[in-house]
Amino acid sequence: MGYSEMKGKTLVISGGTRGIGKAIVYDFAKQGVNIAFTYNSNEEMANEQVKDLEKNYGIKAKTYPLNILEPETYKDLFKLIDEDFDEINYFISNAIISGRPVVGGYTKYMKLKPKGINNIFTATVNAFVVGSQEAAKRMEKVGGGSIISISSTGNLQYIKHYAGHGTAKAAVEAMARYAAAELGEMNIRVNIVSGGPIETDALRAFTNYEEVRDTTAKLSPLNRMGQPQDIAGACLFVCSEKASWMTGHTLLIDGGTTFQTC
Ligand SMILES: NC(=O)c1ccc[n+]([C@@H]2O[C@H](COP(=O)([O-])OP(=O)(O)OC[C@H]3O[C@@H](n4cnc5c(N)ncnc54)[C@H](OP(=O)(O)O)[C@@H]3O)[C@@H](O)[C@H]2O)c1
Repeated sequence: MGYSEMKGKTLVISGGTRGIGKAIVYDFAKQGVNIAFTYNSNEEMANEQVKDLEKNYGIKAKTYPLNILEPETYKDLFKLIDEDFDEINYFISNAIISGRPVVGGYTKYMKLKPKGINNIFTATVNAFVVGSQEAAKRMEKVGGGSIISISSTGNLQYIKHYAGHGTAKAAVEAMARYAAAELGEMNIRVNIVSGGPIETDALRAFTNYEEVRDTTAKLSPLNRMGQPQDIAGACLFVCSEKASWMTGHTLLIDGGTTFQTC
């Protein structure tokens, strides 16, 4: 499927070095979209990726450090992006925290702690708010744009240890609908792409990864786990003109798993 009108436009995406973010970066680059993507710990990998994108797709690509635990730093990030790119047309809030910052957030209900929950909320909801505000200011100048928040079906269905993430994802989905209601007058569409379990480093870090993988494949009528490209394809469609009357919507990409029970 061609998305020729996207050629020469610019995508800003958080967390473009791995998993779903990386797949989105490459899918957009293949359409000739210029890419500004962020990394957190993998600077070397990010720089290699820039070279690969520019060499193989003939687009402009730049990478920048970002810590979504400090959402206000998005303001400085966008100023740097302004120096490198003439306009911003798409913004995808994709990055997710893991490891030490999610202690007390990614755990059993009785072990939840406000600090861990707050960290996940900050990195998920507050980062989306500040990032999309900065993106919207730039999109308004060029007559509109498309914003996506990446969510997960863990806000609809129980996933072990996922209470902190699941509630933050429910909140960011509601926040995105509020954004959609108010940014429409600037011709900015805001949508949510929500994935079922997708094979990435984040999922492999789950304490019960193998169980999730096997159950997902069993639940899906398509008999397989989700892959990062499954989410990337949906993002491409949502940002394209083919989705021009879609806003405030949640697109579920779950291999049919949410409807099924074991
Ligand atoms: N995997 C799933 O099953 C699944 C399902 C549905 C939805 N999702 C959602 O999809 C999105 C991407 O998840 P993923 O599975 O692709 O994750 P992932 O493979 O763990 O990649 C995480 C990305 O976020 C960046 N990152 C980590 N800590 C950060 C921080 N403190 N500040 C800024 N960036 C940071 C990483 O950068 P570095 O590599 O530089 O550290 C990396 O690019 C998330 O919103 C997640 O909730 C995932």
